[in-house]
Amino acid sequence: MNASQSTTSSTKTPSTVRIKVKRQDRPDTDPYWQPFDVPFVANANIISCLQQIASKPVTADGRRVAPVAWDCNCLEEVCGACTMVINGVARQSCSTLLHELVSDGTGTTDEPIVLEPMSKFPVLRDLFVDRSRMFNNLKAIKGWVPIDGTTSLGSGPKEDQASQDMRYALSRCMTCGCCLEACPQFTFDNDFVGAQVIGQALYFNMHETGAELKDDRLEAMEAPGGIADCGNAQNCVKVCPKELPLTEAIASVGRQTTVHAIKSFFTGK
Ligand code: SF4
Ligand code: SF4
Ligand code: FES
Repeated sequence: MNASQSTTSSTKTPSTVRIKVKRQDRPDTDPYWQPFDVPFVANANIISCLQQIASKPVTADGRRVAPVAWDCNCLEEVCGACTMVINGVARQSCSTLLHELVSDGTGTTDEPIVLEPMSKFPVLRDLFVDRSRMFNNLKAIKGWVPIDGTTSLGSGPKEDQASQDMRYALSRCMTCGCCLEACPQFTFDNDFVGAQVIGQALYFNMHETGAELKDDRLEAMEAPGGIADCGNAQNCVKVCPKELPLTEAIASVGRQTTVHAIKSFFTGK
């Protein structure tokens, strides 16, 4: 019995679900599609479906193939590693539940659940992409708090509640890449840094000690591919799974870079 047949039963619960996976054997080879049928398990996430496929890598038409490769780590929507495009939307495969997709009408043989790698990062294999560009951008803005050593420095300076609230919201970024997948300005052939690192520049600039590197961060933001390349379409804020205040971050870092550029013009520093 296939998924589309079983959904006509009185329970409307399929016994199997059809998943179509966009595969790619190596970074330099062409992608291709393969369908798989997996048992329907309520509350299962997409990663457990991929584990099912890995345990028995046989396509829906009975061909034994190499197991599908994907990336994951925390399994609780914290690390961002498992992000992929599921039914056309970039999201985390650890927190995307099978029954929600099935109740939206996908998972049948005619309308399978579709899994693709994110399109804005190089594919290493199948659904596993190389997110280094994001981490390199974090290095470029010095996305850290400078301290002299590992000994206790005592309690830090006091921080007002509004600043704490903003920094907490920004701290939730998991470098997943959803904002970059949705951003029309972030492409393979340019250097735009995207909303993720702009948010983190603000996060560290707002920290009392992190602000020691504020000028360096703003210089990175003023460089080619920096904040001036943001088209302000605000796709990023709509798709961020952690609901970071990216619009406010872009506006705030934009103001900081303007002030910094004027100051540099007059002081020569
Ligand atoms: S506002 Fe638009 S152009 Fe700017 S980072 Fe967000 S999606 Fe990209
Ligand atoms: S800002 Fe949001 S969408 Fe972008 S990488 Fe961070 S958590 Fe993901
Ligand atoms: S495995 Fe970490 S976010 Fe999904």
